[in-house]
Amino acid sequence: MIQRSFFYTVTVCSLAVIALSATHPAKADPLGNPQRGQYLAVASDCVACHTAPHGQPFAGGLAMHTPLGVIYSTNITPSLSAGIGHYSLEDFDKAVRRGVRKDGANLYPAMPYTAYSYLTDQDIADLYAYFQKEVAPVDKKGPVTALPFPMNIRFSMSFWNMLFLNGKPYQADATKSAEWNRGAYLVQGATHCGTCHTHRGFLMQEDLAHPLSGASLGTWYAPNITPDTVSGIGSWSDQDLTEYLRTGRLHGKAQAGGGMGEAVEHSFSRMSSGDLNAISVYLRSLKPVSDPNDHTSSRFQQGHDVSPAVELRGATPIMDHNDDTASGAALFMGNCASCHGASAQGSKDGYYPSLWHNSVTGASRGDNLISTILYGVSRSVEGRQAFMPGFGGKSGDAVQLDDSQIARLSNFVFKTYGRSDVQVTPQDVALIRKGGPASPLLLLSRVGMAAGAILLLVLCAVVFATRRHKARNIV
Ligand code: HEC
Ligand code: HEC
Ligand code: HEC
Repeated sequence: MIQRSFFYTVTVCSLAVIALSATHPAKADPLGNPQRGQYLAVASDCVACHTAPHGQPFAGGLAMHTPLGVIYSTNITPSLSAGIGHYSLEDFDKAVRRGVRKDGANLYPAMPYTAYSYLTDQDIADLYAYFQKEVAPVDKKGPVTALPFPMNIRFSMSFWNMLFLNGKPYQADATKSAEWNRGAYLVQGATHCGTCHTHRGFLMQEDLAHPLSGASLGTWYAPNITPDTVSGIGSWSDQDLTEYLRTGRLHGKAQAGGGMGEAVEHSFSRMSSGDLNAISVYLRSLKPVSDPNDHTSSRFQQGHDVSPAVELRGATPIMDHNDDTASGAALFMGNCASCHGASAQGSKDGYYPSLWHNSVTGASRGDNLISTILYGVSRSVEGRQAFMPGFGGKSGDAVQLDDSQIARLSNFVFKTYGRSDVQVTPQDVALIRKGGPASPLLLLSRVGMAAGAILLLVLCAVVFATRRHKARNIV
């Protein structure tokens, strides 16, 4: 008995030590451990951004549409000519934790180095060992990023970094459990949940006073995942959250589309259950943030099953479900009901989700419904694919709906199955179709530059005039 409890204590302690050492190594081994590096690369989802559609892993070339313009990810395979084969451990560290390239140029924060700055020295050595030893080199360079002036001046990022880059590896909080610390380290660092779920301020920096309380990604909206029971995910159990992260769906509540679908596919579904539990423990301890636009019930409790047949009864017979004047109900019957059911109840096995009690239709904004209809959903986890075709007219889409049809359809879905106060206009659809609004920063910096240039001219003129004036006086 004593022996068993001794054994148990030793096991628990050593597990705690392993968990802690993962976040707090005594001294980094510069040779690194490629296996541990591979796990970290998965948890950090390097592959999602550094791989183009149908491209080779880590060979870069993915176009990222940011409010400032298109930024291309780079080749991070160990190729000497096109990748980071010539990077030393120190160069690699500078790129991943400080956002500085080998040639000294600053990276744009589309590379989440602000989150990765929480990684430890050992993490960096392990990641480096994995990328140099285990990743296949690809000798092909991708397209070069060319942001419009003045954002093409990479040096300006140094000022941004001075303001917003933390620059210290994760410091464990001794008053909290090892599991909490592991969760905090994963969420703030490797898994970089805040990159998407934390609202950004005027200078595109994360609003750290309200972490994870929801943010627009231009197309999709990463919802509030603080423990608030109405605006956040306070009504979810720990198990709910780990199931969602592992599979990308939670029956009667939510599915993972857009960037979340990718993060689940490449990263969260491949993480250990211990790490997913730690993420859940940490998220639950955050400050709940409530949104005044929300009513008394959460986005997971809105709506109920209604058949559009009720709305269509007595209306003109629908010859073409998708003609220019088709009502939202007709568009729903023609395009959505075949999978989601005539009353949007979904399928029994849960493969097709119900559209009521669904975070997308219960949300206080239309972004995710519009994005789902435009881009569809495609996510593979453990060989099981969740696939819904898009209706935006990209190649492979079955049907193309225009902005006004999508607005009518969305308004019908919100009114009938979700939050009836949400209104979608064709302009909203057009904006999301083109990738979201441009950054006001770009406009301002241009105006700022123009104002600066005018000021400079005025100053020059004044200086010139006074000099001439002085010169004349001397003469
Ligand atoms: C959210 C997208 C994203 C993720 C995730 C991401 N990166 Fe990047 N990374 C980028 C982009 C975009 C660039 C290029 C930025 C630029 O040109 O300013 C970049 C640049 C880099 C560079 C500089 C390479 C060079 O010389 O141009 C390195 C090294 C790098 N990333 C490594 C990593 C590693 C390692 C991981 C995972 C731990 C990772 N990245 C995860 C988007 C990402
Ligand atoms: C690349 C951006 C991105 C990253 C990184 C990301 N998320 Fe998400 N997340 C989203 C988007 C977008 C949605 C909405 C998906 C949808 O409705 O189809 C979402 C949805 C969710 C939801 C469901 C909420 C709801 O109401 O439907 C949870 C929970 C969640 N994310 C947790 C996390 C956690 C925890 C992390 C880090 C471990 C994380 N996310 C990282 C973009 C991201
Ligand atoms: C061919 C079958 C099919 C059709 C047609 C279809 N869907 Fe879907 N839909 C799916 C599947 C599969 C999912 C993803 C389930 C998952 O993520 O596990 C889904 C997911 C969704 C979601 C949740 C998305 C998210 O990321 O949270 C919404 C909302 C939705 N569909 C609305 C619609 C609307 C509106 C239409 C009509 C324009 C439609 N669907 C047409 C199969 C379909």
